[in-house]
Order: sequence, then structure tokens, then C-alpha cells
Amino acid sequence: MSVPRFRIVVLASGRGSNLAALIRAINDGIVPADIVGVFSDKPAAGALAIAEAAGIPAHAVAPKSFADRTTFDDALFAAVEKMAPDLIVLAGFMRILSSSVVARHAGRMINIHPSLLPKYPGLDTHQRAIDAGDTEHGASVHWVIPELDAGSVIDQVRLGVLPDDTASTLAARLLPLEHELLVRVVARLARSSH
Ligand code: GRF
Repeated sequence: MSVPRFRIVVLASGRGSNLAALIRAINDGIVPADIVGVFSDKPAAGALAIAEAAGIPAHAVAPKSFADRTTFDDALFAAVEKMAPDLIVLAGFMRILSSSVVARHAGRMINIHPSLLPKYPGLDTHQRAIDAGDTEHGASVHWVIPELDAGSVIDQVRLGVLPDDTASTLAARLLPLEHELLVRVVARLARSSH
């Protein structure tokens, strides 16, 4: 009897390079899973175009069409839940989710964050690491809980901060390591689901 494939939904607000890395890893047989839907709060997000090009159902849900955050989150997650995901991956999804939605998906939703959590939750992580004089920076994949970037860390990658690094050089060197990290974590979760 064939084992049903692990079903992933990705939420992304931006260019979608982490999504692209996941799609590549699935196509290469590294991640035994299917991405069954991609959702964005930004209709122009590169992530939606990447999903469409890969033949993955892609949906924009624009917050301005909703009265408030809770109504938006409920509509977005009603659509997400229709895809019956085993795992929801926040890959550059730039909105804070209401706690009721997060609670409903406890243990099934992960986020990739560009810092060595618990250092630097929130924005501008690369600049904050440089400003603090850190010699090491990195990225984390963690379980999503209602508090921002605060759920338990599943895995991290590290890289050295160079003396002449700027936020953008550091971000550029970190990005391919983030992709490896996300692929590695999702592969592990997909494999351990059976
Ligand atoms: C990544 O740096 C990720 O860590 C952060 O947002 C960025 C998303 O990049 N949460 P992309 O849209 O996957 O290219």
C-alpha cells in the first residue's frame, strides 16, 4: 500500500527563495513531500510566481480586504486548512498571526528566522548582529507559538561575521545557508511523519 505524501503549505510575503529551495529539494527527491499550496499576503510576491511556475496552487489573500487582523487570519487559514497540510512553513511571511490561529496549528507550523534565536527576534537582524559586535550570526528554524520568533528552536546554521560586513553582505552570505537549513529541517519532519 502506498504511503500518503507529507503535505506542506508555504506562506510567504516576498521573493520566495526559500520556497524555491524547497521545491528544488522535493524535485531532487531530498524532501519526501508535496507542496500543496502557497499563500501570500502580497499579491505581487515573487513567491507566488515561483509557485505558479512550478504548477503549485498559489493564492494571494490581501489584508486590506478584511476588517481586522483576526478576520484576515481566519480567512487565510480557512483556505490553508482546506489543503489539509501536515506542515505549514512560514518562509519570509511578514505578518504576525493571531494567537487563536497559531494555537490551532501548534506543533504543525514552523518559521525560518535570520538570527541565532533567542538573539534578535523581529526585524533588522543582520544590522543588529553587526551593531552588537557579534562575531557569529546565523539563522534558526523554530516552531511557531503566539509570541514572535519565540518558539522552540529545531535547528540553526551559523556563519562568521567579517570585519567589513554590512547588513546586506551578511544577509547575502547567510541566505544559501538558510536554504540548506530549511530543506534539512523539512526533510527530517517529512521523514519522521511515517
Ligand atoms: C529570509 O531571510 C527568511 O529568513 C526571512 O525572510 C527572508 C525570506 O526570503 N524570514 P525569501 O522570500 O525566502 O527569499
